[in-house]
Amino acid sequence: MKKFKRYLVTSALPYANGPVHIGHLAGVYIPSDIYVRYLRLKGEDVLWVCGSDEHGVPITIKARQEGVTPQDIVDKYHNIIKNSFEELGISFDIYSRTSSEMHRKTASDFFRKLYDDGKFIEQTTMQYYDPEAGQFLADRYITGTCPHCQNEKAYGDQCEKCGTTLNATDLINPRSAITGAVPELRETKHWFLPLDRYESFLRRWILEEHKEWKPNVYGQCKSWLDLGLQPRAVSRDLDWGIPVPVEGAEGKVLYVWFDAPIGYISATKELTPEWEKYWKDSETKLVHFIGKDNIVFHCIVFPSMLQAHGEYILPDNVPANEFLNLENDKISTSRNWAVWLHEYLQDFPGKQDVLRYVLCANAPETKDNDFTWKDFQARNNNELVAILGNFVNRTLVLTTKYFEGKVPVAETLTDYDRDCLKEVSAIKISLENNIEHYRFREALKDAMNIARMGNKYLADTEPWKVFKENPSRVAAILNTALQITANLAIAIEPFMPFTADKLLNLLQCGSLGWNQLGNDSILSVGHQLGKPELLFEKIEDKAIEVQLAKLEAARMANLAKEVKVEPCKESISFDDFSRMDIRVSKIVAAEKVAKTKKLLKLTVDTGIDVRTIVSGIAEFFTPEELIGKQVLVLVNLEPRELKGIKSEGMILMAEDATGKLVAVVPEHEVKQGSCVR
Ligand code: MF3
Ligand code: ZN
Repeated sequence: MKKFKRYLVTSALPYANGPVHIGHLAGVYIPSDIYVRYLRLKGEDVLWVCGSDEHGVPITIKARQEGVTPQDIVDKYHNIIKNSFEELGISFDIYSRTSSEMHRKTASDFFRKLYDDGKFIEQTTMQYYDPEAGQFLADRYITGTCPHCQNEKAYGDQCEKCGTTLNATDLINPRSAITGAVPELRETKHWFLPLDRYESFLRRWILEEHKEWKPNVYGQCKSWLDLGLQPRAVSRDLDWGIPVPVEGAEGKVLYVWFDAPIGYISATKELTPEWEKYWKDSETKLVHFIGKDNIVFHCIVFPSMLQAHGEYILPDNVPANEFLNLENDKISTSRNWAVWLHEYLQDFPGKQDVLRYVLCANAPETKDNDFTWKDFQARNNNELVAILGNFVNRTLVLTTKYFEGKVPVAETLTDYDRDCLKEVSAIKISLENNIEHYRFREALKDAMNIARMGNKYLADTEPWKVFKENPSRVAAILNTALQITANLAIAIEPFMPFTADKLLNLLQCGSLGWNQLGNDSILSVGHQLGKPELLFEKIEDKAIEVQLAKLEAARMANLAKEVKVEPCKESISFDDFSRMDIRVSKIVAAEKVAKTKKLLKLTVDTGIDVRTIVSGIAEFFTPEELIGKQVLVLVNLEPRELKGIKSEGMILMAEDATGKLVAVVPEHEVKQGSCVR
């Protein structure tokens, strides 16, 4: 492996059109935070940049929906995102934004250089135009049916159902997302980056020189390259974005996927006057952390832009993750099917590391994965509490009990003691190798193995049984366990920084560098430890139920949105209406109709009389819950016979989103027999 002098790490710039959720975290921000924290602990020269992606159509659409300006939208979400990242301990060196002046200038200059060097092709094409809204319909402003999978809600740039990248003109039945109008085609001029010219460079650079990239990344690149690359438009007819910096480009802005990755450069410039060292020197290792939907932009488009520019280095790796699902369903911002970071932080104060741990342990590194609240609870209770917390607590409590919280002297160590301490060094090698190859789940297991080993060590040596007879043996055991604990504090730091801090504080240690990991005498004899405290607490069922109820509410709201409203029926006269006799009635008895699934036989007091009504609601109500209930009854409906029972009238019901019938009832009790009009 090539040895690098310094690192530049980037994480995908989140769109500032909504808050960050666990899918973003597991896919991008937690792995990159682990990687960078590890490098810093090792004393490497590393910069980590990120920021909000504030251009693009999703933002202007959101602004239109909410009746505010795009700037209002990005200001709102930029702040929510930035603060929630900070609170989770995501330790960017800078979290910038693409609406900054620095970025406008950097992206403009970049475009201008490519323009001046003749790297673009200028082309006039036909684009959809909404005559009612008076604007061109870029990307998501146009919707229609996907020609590949028939999804009726495909966008002008992409079908989210089958994942195909589309051109607006591929859509069947195109419609403006602004007015719903049928769009017309109009001529417009745009600048294209001829990706086909970079094909042979990309083939060599990726397919030959980067065979070590993750199979999902390498595979996607290969299939793009095998299909053959086309020129891609890098400008759009929009009024939100960075103006195209050439004459005759009024009303045109840079395509969001042209400006956003340049945001990595702008953020670095904002961070340090030495930014060029990180971007233009081949001794810098550049690593892009992204989700799988960003692969083509980071492996094909942006590298072609960098290559076209000529002064920049290319990424050494692009460790993209797959997607995280939530309770067996795709995470979706529009369907509110997500665990939002800012809400998690409110609901689980002080439990940042629990989320960090679960999302790393379950990260979608090689395939899509599922987050469930049950698993979240189980990992907290069975792993963090029972393994990590338990080992640390037992060690500290025993030391307090037997040695007044002072590190005891280890006069003679047994082979077993020495082997355990040596095992830490072996784990260190594996842990480093895993992090350096972007296998964070495995790396976390390594770190936890130190605690596992510690628990086994205490169970095997049983110091609490030995103390009476042999206190000096117990001193050696606890010295060993404490050295393991100190090592543990280092190993977990990249993954769980809050817990590592807490642990160092319990040990009354300042921060320890990575090179201390594997050292068998970090804590010196006589060193006074702090008062034992629990690192983690159990998460009870109640807290999990609250979260599941939130999701259930979102599911119901989505179902309700999907229910098709029947078209209005033909109009009737007032006279027609007044011929219907609807009365408030009370159900006085109810029983199932034998040998049927759906029918209930109800005895109803209509105020006029007491009569029988047979109703097809047995799947939705038990007889008991109906008795005593007031309902509305159409009392002059022609009687009819059902299963040999004469039914006289109809109970009025509405259908909910799941197809369940619910009774229509008066707001409060009224007299039986009152008319409804
Ligand atoms: N905003 C994009 C997304 O969330 C990612 C942009 S990454 C960058 O999918 F490279 F363009 F910055
Ligand atoms: Zn499709």
